[in-house]
Amino acid sequence: MGMLGGCPFSTHPHRPQTADGRFHNQVSQAPLLLPMIRLPLQKQSLTEMQRHEAIKHSAKTLSQYLRNTYAQVSLIDKLKIVYRPYICPLGQLLEYAKFSKNVFDVGCGSGQFLLLLAHFGGMEKLGGIEISERLISNARKLLANPGRSALFLAVFDGKTIPAQINEYDWVTMIDVFHHIPPEEQIPFMMALHKAMKPGAVLIFKDINQNSPLVLINKFHDAVLGGGAGREISAKKAEIMLTEIGFRIGTITTQTTLAYPHYTIVCKKT
Ligand SMILES: C[S@@+](CC[C@H](N)C(=O)[O-])C[C@H]1O[C@@H](n2cnc3c(N)ncnc32)[C@H](O)[C@@H]1O
Repeated sequence: MGMLGGCPFSTHPHRPQTADGRFHNQVSQAPLLLPMIRLPLQKQSLTEMQRHEAIKHSAKTLSQYLRNTYAQVSLIDKLKIVYRPYICPLGQLLEYAKFSKNVFDVGCGSGQFLLLLAHFGGMEKLGGIEISERLISNARKLLANPGRSALFLAVFDGKTIPAQINEYDWVTMIDVFHHIPPEEQIPFMMALHKAMKPGAVLIFKDINQNSPLVLINKFHDAVLGGGAGREISAKKAEIMLTEIGFRIGTITTQTTLAYPHYTIVCKKT
């Protein structure tokens, strides 16, 4: 798992490697909704430091930090913020992002990942854009005191990526792609590629259409997200990103609760 490895663009002896030199990791978490079922623990040999890193960024740690952050938002939004680390592998994404001191989050929602980056990632500069005014307003409240991180937050129209993104070395896009209308998905990714700084890294995290568990996410989005998502498979995402001009670093698949995730770390060439 990337969390225990090095930078996604360095070689790592323990990860399975494909013929063309990329890495494909598979991580599966026992569903947290079934605490009564005890699954046999896989044998692992972690160094103390790796164990510390894993514990430090556990979903519980991140959720507790978010719970204790004061921001006057609606109860529903607060619940979405606090429980997000249990649904989405934010701890793993934090581990990737720590290879940079500046991160720009596309579709940042209420700003919870930016807040975690500010607190756990030691960031110097953070940026985020979001189509929902309400959520950007939440993000401004959540990040009202982000410590030392310089901050850029803006509402955008879903098409025009602000030029400021060019100042960031790492860009994240977490569970946003499947919310974009299908006919706008590729133009959006092309616009993002164009706007990013050459050599900048994109962490593209989305829900895997190839898994039957995608139905859980469709149900989730239909109830909480205003409509079922337009997910694509990890393979299709890899092809799309490559054709647009990104060089693929790592591809990780992972299931948390019953949500099937993939994360592609790639670089603008
Ligand atoms: C599941 S939420 C993820 C929020 C945040 N990235 C996170 O991981 O907590 C999806 C976000 O994508 C945003 N979104 C929806 N349609 C979009 C579009 N066309 N362009 C950009 N963002 C969009 C939504 O407003 C929402 O905040």
